[in-house]
Amino acid sequence: MESKTSILFVCLGNICRSPVAEAVFLEILNQHNLSHQFKIDSAATSPNHIGEKADPRTRKQAISKGIDITHRARQLHPNDFLEFDYILAMDKKNLEDIEKIAPENNKAILAMFASFDPDPNFVEVPDPYWGDAKDFERVYELCQKAGHHLLKHLLKS
Ligand code: 4NP
Repeated sequence: MESKTSILFVCLGNICRSPVAEAVFLEILNQHNLSHQFKIDSAATSPNHIGEKADPRTRKQAISKGIDITHRARQLHPNDFLEFDYILAMDKKNLEDIEKIAPENNKAILAMFASFDPDPNFVEVPDPYWGDAKDFERVYELCQKAGHHLLKHLLKS
């Protein structure tokens, strides 16, 4: 049996962006009947929201797209670097923080989620925490855009 490809999406709090990336990517996998071949999760660089449900604005926006986000925030753990094939950051600061705590025996590919999209203007999924509903909608759209390109990349590699 082939082993699963594992992907961990990471942002600062694990309550606004990475739970959306996780849920949207899982939906893309389901649309392609591929979810059994993957392990998908999300985590935070900070400990600030551990155990919390996703932000109410995130959940409301996801529900409007038919997605129920049930994830509870957790912090990135050193074992994640050995257990996941890809650890994908939403913004540059997230990636810097991920790289800072990566153990020497890291086995994961550490990258920006947007880096699989050839669009040169798409680099980060911006933090919507201090923004409004439009910013949360944008997170969803960007996660869809990046997710499609991530799957394309995974299917050819
Ligand atoms: P996230 O958003 O990293 O996408 O989950 C944030 C969540 C919480 C805070 C900032 C960003 N905060 O400052 O508490």
